[in-house]
Amino acid sequence: MERPSLMVANWKMYKTIHAARAFGVELLRRMEEDPGPRGLTQVLCPTALALAPLAERLRGSAIRVGAQNLDLGVEGPRTGALSAYLLRDAGAEYVIVGHSERRQEFAEDDDLVAAKVVEALKGQLTPIVCVGETRDERDHGLTETVVTRQIERVLSAVTPDREVVFAYEPVWAIGSGRTPTASEAEQVAQLMRNLIGRSWPGTDALVRVLYGGSVNRDSIRTFAEHTSFDGVLVGGASLDVDHWLDINRRWGEVRC
Ligand code: 13P
Repeated sequence: MERPSLMVANWKMYKTIHAARAFGVELLRRMEEDPGPRGLTQVLCPTALALAPLAERLRGSAIRVGAQNLDLGVEGPRTGALSAYLLRDAGAEYVIVGHSERRQEFAEDDDLVAAKVVEALKGQLTPIVCVGETRDERDHGLTETVVTRQIERVLSAVTPDREVVFAYEPVWAIGSGRTPTASEAEQVAQLMRNLIGRSWPGTDALVRVLYGGSVNRDSIRTFAEHTSFDGVLVGGASLDVDHWLDINRRWGEVRC
């Protein structure tokens, strides 16, 4: 069975509340004129501050909203922390977990990532779990080892009774304008599918695997045409409405 495509925009530490809302308004306006491909879900992940105002704007539309991170717990004395419960309350339905920027800049390790996935699921959020190797790891032939270690830690921590999304984001491809070839990326997609299938048999139709790292309106076709990924996770190129719509349209032309 074909899994419905998932297109995720990760706005990272960009866009004020005003700019996020303006994007939402413009996106809805443009989609009213031209609804674009069917059978594809868009998820916008703004900063935590813009989450509620953007979700409010998009309420009742087909566009979903996600958070970029979550902290452990529900409520409690944890200064500065945001739980799945609070993110859900603000309108998030998805949450990105284990992004390489969090792994590197905020020292998140595999154990913490797995714990966050558990919390996300408990809090009714769909986690989008990022895995991927650094340039150095790829150069040393460690891609498979690293991705296997990262993904298996999550697979062993949760029971797949709610949706979990995985994203392959090679660290060296993020924001660099460089991407793996379709066959390099596909090799990792297959590895991930095999690991998921082995740990969670029978979930093939439920677990989507995305690609992320320098996706733009030019590179999108390669991934749509020559790989089995179920969608993409887009950083820089998702900040502009035109660019974002082109990515969705081009993906849809091939896949939907
Ligand atoms: P870029 O699309 O800017 O390379 O970022 C990818 C990413 O990190 C998405 O989570």
